[in-house]
Amino acid sequence: MRSAYKTPDIALTARRPDELDADLLVFPVFEAPSPGEDAALDEACGGALSRARASGEFKGKLFDTFIAPITAPAWKTRRAMFVGAGRPADWTPDRLRRVATTAGLQARQRHITRIAFVPGLPDGLSAGASAKAGASKIPTPVAAQVVAEGVCVANFDGGAYKTNDDPWGWLEQVEISLPDGLKAQAAAERGRLLGEYTNHARSFSNEPGNTLTPRVFAERAEALASGTGLSIDVLDEQRIAALNMGLLLGVARGSQEPPRLVVLRHDPPNAIPGVVLAFVGKGITFDTGGISIKPAQDMDRMKDDMSGGAAAICALGAIGRLNVPVRCMAVVPMTENMPGGRAMKPGDILKSAEGKTVEVLNTDAEGRLVLGDALWYARQLGATHLVDLATLTGAMVVALGKTTTGLFGTPAAWMEQVQRASDRAGDRSWPMPTFDDYKDLFKSEIADFSNTGGRPAGSITAALFLKEFTGELPWVHLDIAGTAWNEDTKPYQPKGATGVGVRTLVELALDAETWSKLDLRR
Ligand code: BES
Ligand code: MN
Ligand code: ZN
Repeated sequence: MRSAYKTPDIALTARRPDELDADLLVFPVFEAPSPGEDAALDEACGGALSRARASGEFKGKLFDTFIAPITAPAWKTRRAMFVGAGRPADWTPDRLRRVATTAGLQARQRHITRIAFVPGLPDGLSAGASAKAGASKIPTPVAAQVVAEGVCVANFDGGAYKTNDDPWGWLEQVEISLPDGLKAQAAAERGRLLGEYTNHARSFSNEPGNTLTPRVFAERAEALASGTGLSIDVLDEQRIAALNMGLLLGVARGSQEPPRLVVLRHDPPNAIPGVVLAFVGKGITFDTGGISIKPAQDMDRMKDDMSGGAAAICALGAIGRLNVPVRCMAVVPMTENMPGGRAMKPGDILKSAEGKTVEVLNTDAEGRLVLGDALWYARQLGATHLVDLATLTGAMVVALGKTTTGLFGTPAAWMEQVQRASDRAGDRSWPMPTFDDYKDLFKSEIADFSNTGGRPAGSITAALFLKEFTGELPWVHLDIAGTAWNEDTKPYQPKGATGVGVRTLVELALDAETWSKLDLRR
């Protein structure tokens, strides 16, 4: 098996582009430049940039790329790649991050290993007003972080089990040139770790059901925790039974593989007092649907039904490495959902660890079951703030498509904090309602409630089911069913697992000083 990713060396430099020594210099350039813009760059490559603009070969359209030899003898690097940055007015840190990923993927395809990235041209090198105006909207540390993230997530290979092709090269060294760059060293290191742990989550999600069983997933979480200062507790089926986690055990019944419940903790000495941020992630290592079995078409995709769990675990890894001064934990229930001879059946009653009873009307609505017990357990362990992540409902893909994560929860101020973190992270999310009126949809005649509300508002009833297990804590639920897996190759995102959520959770933890002061009673 070949490795799924490589984290490149990343160095910040204040050197000017002409002084950078690499195999390739990368410059974001905007659409429709004002006359004279890019003059220095154009001159460096003997007019190739302006000729490409004039001919229409390259116009700076977002994520388009153009490579030209550098002909100016004084420049140390012999080649430049221009990456379209779109309209200056639309320039954002997230676009810069994606431009960096685009450049990284293009470089790797060409087996170029040493690149230098120039997010914005320094004074004296740029004659263009709009390029500077656009680039200057992004503060230096933010630029350093997002470029580091962007190039790291470019260094990911989804073909882990291929033995017969010629893989792309790895980026080995990346220099980021920013005029006052040396002050942003910590930001670049943060970006590098965020990229690394995003890739780690992607490699988890890419693993098929036969190689990443619940037991293996738990072992991998242990391996990830070692050396980061995190503590880990892996609960086996006996301890899960001793805690009366009837929902998790109900889902696990149909499988030959025993379930696991993984708890990772980050407990720094300088932590904000009284705050424990808990991430609860769905860890279904394969979802067949159980007795309410799924159709064969695309069922293979359900190997990624543990993406929420992977994000929670990998976020803890990054938080541990960064030593973020807030207590955090990840709680991840791990099991397969299989149609075995002992599997739970439609109509079965399960009793949660909290004591609430559930009528299972559809065994394919298993995510909310395992999360119900896990949310309760996070509360038992002292959580003060909850965020759960799950590839929970197909209805989420219908509602928001493949680009935006559904954000549910209470109170609104906590939802807002999580949404802001997701904006900073470049993980789009958007609020969805959880009005009590929807609770009628999953009433049960025989138990406290059922595990499905049918087709109407399918993502909302799933969220309201989870809410039953959140006590009085501020809680957010992120439904990543649409965003965990990318179906078609984009310039900045290859087909496959996205690692969505990792950066959101870390950004949230990094901002704890802000939200720990808020009154988040619900
Ligand atoms: N893991 C699926 C949700 C899913 C579907 C994720 C498609 C990604 C892509 C989940 O366990 C599920 O099967 N949900 C059911 C719920 C229904 C039975 C109430 C669904 O969405 O159909
Ligand atoms: Mn399911
Ligand atoms: Zn599922």
